[in-house]
Amino acid sequence: MPGVWNAFRPFNGARNSRLATDLAGISLPTPIGLAAGYDKDCRVLGSVLKLGFGFVTGGTVTLSSRPGNPKPRVARITDQKALMNSLGFPGQGLEAALKRLGKHRRQRDRILVSIAGTIEDEIVECLRRTQPLVAGIELNISSPNTAGLRIFHEPGRLRGLIEGLVADKQVPLFVKLPPWPRDTDNRRDILKLAETAVDAGADGLVIANTHPIESRRLKVGRGGLSGAPLFEHTELMIADVQALVQGNAAIIACGGVSTAEQVWKLMASGASAVQLYTSFIYEGPGLPSRLNRRLAKLMSVAGIETVADITGPPPTVK
Ligand SMILES: Cc1cc2nc3c(=O)[nH]c(=O)nc-3n(C[C@H](O)[C@H](O)[C@H](O)COP(=O)(O)O)c2cc1C
Repeated sequence: MPGVWNAFRPFNGARNSRLATDLAGISLPTPIGLAAGYDKDCRVLGSVLKLGFGFVTGGTVTLSSRPGNPKPRVARITDQKALMNSLGFPGQGLEAALKRLGKHRRQRDRILVSIAGTIEDEIVECLRRTQPLVAGIELNISSPNTAGLRIFHEPGRLRGLIEGLVADKQVPLFVKLPPWPRDTDNRRDILKLAETAVDAGADGLVIANTHPIESRRLKVGRGGLSGAPLFEHTELMIADVQALVQGNAAIIACGGVSTAEQVWKLMASGASAVQLYTSFIYEGPGLPSRLNRRLAKLMSVAGIETVADITGPPPTVK
């Protein structure tokens, strides 16, 4: 299937210079990216890029291979265009991912890789060995499905980890945070993590991972919710974080994005780029191209020449 996706390339809408953007020093043809988790072992990143994504995020990769949680571990909530997953980082481990990334050197400038682990030294090793092959690294401390990651929700522990990574880093480092949906009381704690991450030297934040959910449809009984129900929360969280970092860190918005109007709103709220996953599953391989074209059209109607200048509500366009 990915081979067939080459056919999309001339029509993917990513060549409109209006959409070009800067993400913490990484030059991207469009701000619309693929989120972590779609290609955990970095098998098809080059093909997926050709669909019109400005960037793609491989992983999450861990140092050693892992089986992940028992199945069933993914379920659709079709009427809400949402997914629940409790995958828990199944993957072949760093070595296998590096071998494949080595074959994508021409697209290196548009590939991020998400890394994670439960021991600081292992995560530093993932960064050190992955960074020569990618444009940026995303540190995942926020999967709701992986026992052990929560140790980095303690600000002192997170600071130590990020300072260790920053000492070795040669490409921008983004930290992917857990969400603080409106109906939970974890807002202050997670904003503290955001502040700590930026203060310790992270170049950007990814807001945010899946939202914790309980369900008997998942073997382990709980997992992460993704897709359309997340969007309103994502918008509020971006405004919170923008007020906190005030331009001192790049923000990647992630959660429930499926339209160009939503991309516009998140960029207007302070995001430098967006990532999506679940809408790609529901809408198919034509989605990034449609989003690129529509976003360029909205900008043209509003008389906006560059995505960094997007502000206010999106224009109403048929
Ligand atoms: C099946 C599945 C697997 C995922 N795996 C990862 C992962 O390995 N690492 C990660 O940081 N996020 C992972 N995510 C979270 C997504 O990257 C994203 O944060 C979340 O799905 C919200 O975006 P969306 O609503 O556009 O899907 C996964 C999501 C799904 C649905």
